[in-house]
Amino acid sequence: MAEIDWDRARVLVEFGPGVGTITREVLKRMRRDAVLVAIELNEEFVEHLGETIHDTRLRLVHGSAADVRRILAEQGLAAADYIISSIPYSLLSAAERQEIVSESRHALQAQGSLLVFQFNRSLLPYLKSSFSSVKLNFQLLNILPVLVFHCTP
Ligand SMILES: C[S@@+](CC[C@H](N)C(=O)[O-])C[C@H]1O[C@@H](n2cnc3c(N)ncnc32)[C@H](O)[C@@H]1O
Repeated sequence: MAEIDWDRARVLVEFGPGVGTITREVLKRMRRDAVLVAIELNEEFVEHLGETIHDTRLRLVHGSAADVRRILAEQGLAAADYIISSIPYSLLSAAERQEIVSESRHALQAQGSLLVFQFNRSLLPYLKSSFSSVKLNFQLLNILPVLVFHCTP
């Protein structure tokens, strides 16, 4: 998350918070007046997060990343400054990948960024089709080592 300008970030979105490993680190770093919308498909994880993380800046949503624009609108929020995604795109169909990447692009404000953690490069063509800049970093200090795509409109 070194790419995130924490002073500027007011609206952050996380796709697939799971058990909240990344969620907790975002909450530690983000401004007191910022909001983190965490969108998770698995209801059990949503319940678990609601029981274990008590932070008024966190808005937990049971739903799909594909609906990010609708979810932001329902939360009364404008476009996102950052979207952090660790959902398993390799398990999704081509149409689902395209939809989530495209919706992410449209949910971001002009200076916003999409950060994607992945274990392979298969998402790269989809990212390049929606974003004008896609930078690739490799984080060795992760179990397992992971690719981080930094995408800007
Ligand atoms: C690899 S896990 C992420 C783990 C989590 N970020 C962590 O660090 O603990 C992927 C998560 O994405 C969720 N997921 C998969 N497809 C999704 C979608 N379309 N929208 C939102 N969440 C999704 C899964 O339910 C799962 O919790």
